[in-house]
Amino acid sequence: MRDTDAGPTHRPVLLSETLEFLAVAGGGTYVDGTLGEGGHTEGILEASGPNGMVLGIDRDPRSVAAARRRLDRYGSRAMLAHGNYADMERIAGEHGITAVDGILLDLGFSSRQVNTAGYGFSFQTDEPLDMRYDPVGETAADIVNSTNEGELADVIFQYGEERRSRAIARAIVRSRPILTTGQLAQVVARAVGGRRGRRHPATRTFQALRIAVNQELTQVEAGLAAAGELLRPGGRLAVISYHSLEDRLVKEWMDRETATCICPPEFPVCVCEQEPRFRTVRRRIVRPAKEEITENSRSRSARLRIAERI
Ligand SMILES: C[S@@+](CC[C@H](N)C(=O)[O-])C[C@H]1O[C@@H](n2cnc3c(N)ncnc32)[C@H](O)[C@@H]1O
Repeated sequence: MRDTDAGPTHRPVLLSETLEFLAVAGGGTYVDGTLGEGGHTEGILEASGPNGMVLGIDRDPRSVAAARRRLDRYGSRAMLAHGNYADMERIAGEHGITAVDGILLDLGFSSRQVNTAGYGFSFQTDEPLDMRYDPVGETAADIVNSTNEGELADVIFQYGEERRSRAIARAIVRSRPILTTGQLAQVVARAVGGRRGRRHPATRTFQALRIAVNQELTQVEAGLAAAGELLRPGGRLAVISYHSLEDRLVKEWMDRETATCICPPEFPVCVCEQEPRFRTVRRRIVRPAKEEITENSRSRSARLRIAERI
């Protein structure tokens, strides 16, 4: 268990690739919609010096505080805000920014959030079942203890892509109240049997609850839409996702926004006069090199997609 003041514990994933594909340049203005511990923001500030600016936003006030300590030396070049990336246009406006050269969304949670006591994201330790980035509203314990069995199974199936969702939901309902991460992990493990490969049997259930608590997929859609509005022509959007649900949303959004024709496939000629707002910078997704995966196992599932505002 790490202390929040112990210095950065999260290694920014795909950092050099992100800087390259965002085309970070001196004097540019950027939004890091998922500030975390400020690793990517620091990289962007370095690459855009001496005058580049970054507006870093995070839904978790504890992450903003950690990033503030790290980025203090950049003074007013680093503008940090507690908020939701879905609101980036408003937050940017409050900082006098109306258009930007690049936006990064590095989705999900940081290593600091999993390794720090109090978030309730991890089944490695036993602590209150919380899972909120921003400590307001419903917790994972609220959902686990008040949702009916059928709905709970749907959440676990849809957001966790967990095939054993019905058995898990049944076991959860029978074991209520479930108040801690350890309790939940045990209930799920008993319901589905032992480990599957390297993964803890509760991994998918924990992912599902985290997505549900924070309404993450809805936020991703809203964040992409907001980014589309805030980028100036030629500005780039980089999105790093860590599981297939997020990545599918990003891919579908980028496919739609870069499409030059949206006519039904059976139409013999194009009649839609679609004008795409984005162009594809690189059709293939960017994945971490072997060396990065060896040094930082968290990067294994990372997928970076990039598009450029027209
Ligand atoms: C993978 S971490 C980012 C790590 C960061 N790139 C770094 O290098 O330190 C994702 C961060 O996004 C934040 N987050 C998740 N959903 C958010 C949202 N809707 N709006 C703003 N921040 C969000 C989380 O609190 C977490 O700190």
